[in-house]
Amino acid sequence: MTTISLIQGASKGIGLQFCRSLLSRDSQSVVIATCRSPDKASELLKLQSDVPNRLHIHQLDVTKTADIENVCNKTTENCGRLDLLINSAGMLHPSGKGETSLRDVTEEGLSQTFATNTIGPLIMAKYFAPLLKKGNGDIGRQPSKHTGVLVNMSAKVGSITDNGLGGWYSYRLSKAALNMTTKNLSIELGRGKNKITCISLHPGTVDTDLSRPYHKGVPKLFSTEESIRMMLEVIDSLSIEDTGKFFTYDRTELSF
Ligand SMILES: NC(=O)c1ccc[n+]([C@@H]2O[C@H](COP(=O)([O-])OP(=O)(O)OC[C@H]3O[C@@H](n4cnc5c(N)ncnc54)[C@H](OP(=O)(O)O)[C@@H]3O)[C@@H](O)[C@H]2O)c1
Repeated sequence: MTTISLIQGASKGIGLQFCRSLLSRDSQSVVIATCRSPDKASELLKLQSDVPNRLHIHQLDVTKTADIENVCNKTTENCGRLDLLINSAGMLHPSGKGETSLRDVTEEGLSQTFATNTIGPLIMAKYFAPLLKKGNGDIGRQPSKHTGVLVNMSAKVGSITDNGLGGWYSYRLSKAALNMTTKNLSIELGRGKNKITCISLHPGTVDTDLSRPYHKGVPKLFSTEESIRMMLEVIDSLSIEDTGKFFTYDRTELSF
C-alpha cells in the first residue's frame, strides 16, 4: 500500500533529505512537503520535477495556525489519511547562534525559538492527529499496533539529564519542552483503538546551515544522507511500545 508522509520544514537540510530518501526508497510513496516559501525552495522544486505525481509542496509557516489548518484541509481532501508526520523545522536562535550566557537572553529570542521549535509542532499534532489515526500502520515494525507515526526532530542538548555545559537557553529550553510535548502526545494519542506512536529523535550533528557555526571540533559530523538513513531505520523499527521515547539516530534511548 502507498505510504503517505508529511515533512514539515522541507526547504533544506534534514527535512529536504527526508523527502529525497522517502521518495527514492519506495517508488509508490507519496510525500507532502511543507515550507515557508516554496518559490525559494529550489532544491525541493527540483526534486518535484523528477516525481511530480508523488511530491506535493505546500506553503506552511509553522508559527501560523492558519497555514497549518489550510494544509490539513488540503491533505484531508486529497489523501484522507497520513502514515508519517515529521516535524523537522527548527531554529537555534533568531541570531543563528545559541546564547553563551544569561546576558544574551532576550524575550524576543526565546519567543521566536519556542514558536518554531515547540508550539508549531504541537499545533501540527493537534491538526494532523485525526489523519494519523486513519493511517495504514505500514510505517514501523510489523505488527506495529499503530496507525501512524509522529516524529518530532529534537536535539540531545534538549536533554535536562545530559546538560553539563549550560548556555543555548532558547534552544535547550525549546527542545526540552518539545520532548515534554512528545511525551504528552504519546499518552493522549496512545489511547483507543487507533494509536499513534510519537517519538522525539536526535539526528546527530549534521552538516546543515543550523549547525554550521559549530562544525569545528565536532567529533563526528554526519552528512544529511547518513543521518536520514539511520533515522529511517529507527522509524522503521518503531511500534506502539516505543511511544513517548527520545531516541538518537542509532536508536540509543536518551534520558529526558
Ligand atoms: N543539524 C544538526 O546538527 C541538528 C542537530 C540536532 C537537532 N537538529 C534539528 O533538526 C531539525 C532540522 O534542522 P536542520 O539541521 O535541517 O536545519 P536547517 O538546515 O537550518 O533547516 C531548518 C529548516 O527549518 C525551517 N524553518 C525555520 N523556521 C520555520 C518556520 N517558522 N516555519 C517553517 N519552517 C521553518 C527552515 O525553512 P526556511 O528555508 O524557510 O528558513 C528550514 O527548512 C531542527 O529541528 C533542528 O533543531 C539539527
